[in-house]
Amino acid sequence: MTGEKNVEPGVRLLERLRADVEAIGSMVRRVVDLPWSGRSYAVVMPADIDPLLDRVVDDSEQNLPYWAELWPSGVALADRIERNPEALYGRRVIELGCGLGVTAVAALRAGADLVAADYAAEALALCRLNTHVNSGLLPETVSMNWRAGKAALPAGWDGGFDVVLAADVLYERRDVAPLTDLMWKLLVPGGRVWLAEPARAVAADFLASTRGLGWQWQTEHHPGPWPDAADHGVSVGIHQALPGPYRNTKNQSPTRRRMTTRTTTPRASGDSSRCDADGSGYSATSEMNVESRYSA
Ligand SMILES: C[S@@+](CC[C@H](N)C(=O)[O-])C[C@H]1O[C@@H](n2cnc3c(N)ncnc32)[C@H](O)[C@@H]1O
Repeated sequence: MTGEKNVEPGVRLLERLRADVEAIGSMVRRVVDLPWSGRSYAVVMPADIDPLLDRVVDDSEQNLPYWAELWPSGVALADRIERNPEALYGRRVIELGCGLGVTAVAALRAGADLVAADYAAEALALCRLNTHVNSGLLPETVSMNWRAGKAALPAGWDGGFDVVLAADVLYERRDVAPLTDLMWKLLVPGGRVWLAEPARAVAADFLASTRGLGWQWQTEHHPGPWPDAADHGVSVGIHQALPGPYRNTKNQSPTRRRMTTRTTTPRASGDSSRCDADGSGYSATSEMNVESRYSA
């Protein structure tokens, strides 16, 4: 667990966050437009995915560096939150599979008390920098592999969250059962899951199987446009459900400390200025050339 406990002076904190990110490799900054809300975020991300792929060739779990890319689902969920921030205001929220932190920025700006979780340490470092630069806040970041069963759940977090956010995390069948179980366990009674997904078959299986468990999903669709031209035509489903009580009735809500750390003054809520001059220290770049990513 890597919670941010201390408020550091802004410049020193930014330097530390940038150093963590630079240790990953060469970075670029992209401006990501959120079509519904009209907001824009400046997102620091790896310049090239190939060296990252080389690093995982021997990974027995075949965990590919999907955290390094911009995905329509993360943008759509951020946009949905920006449009109705009151839904997360003051809530205890966890994002599973935070990647670069696009959705986390929106959740923090909405006033959520946020934990951002991913199994990739690089994702957590980028999420910290991107949330700091775009919201002036830091989430608590947690290294967690949801395939680890009970071990995935930090002690005391059973039933600790009002909302679980998840953007494009259901693309492998092996994740359907662990994510169903984990989401259920993480939520307080009456808590909500917000899932964004780009019409993947695995996500459809997850929605169907959880409907069978009594989860009642409400869906809206976000048609884009998306940061990468390769994603043109992708429609993201934004699904919300109340999973209902977990079958294990030990679902009590522990008292938890506040997790979000303020790092700079957040923008006023009516401010729709772009983030080009964001202080991240990275120059803007044109979009990456990505092959079709929806064959699964
Ligand atoms: C397709 S990316 C989506 C990233 C981000 N949510 C977005 O929409 O931009 C999937 C994310 O889930 C993370 N992830 C995949 N499998 C995971 C696992 N078993 N445990 C924790 N994180 C995982 C990846 O590292 C990656 O950040």
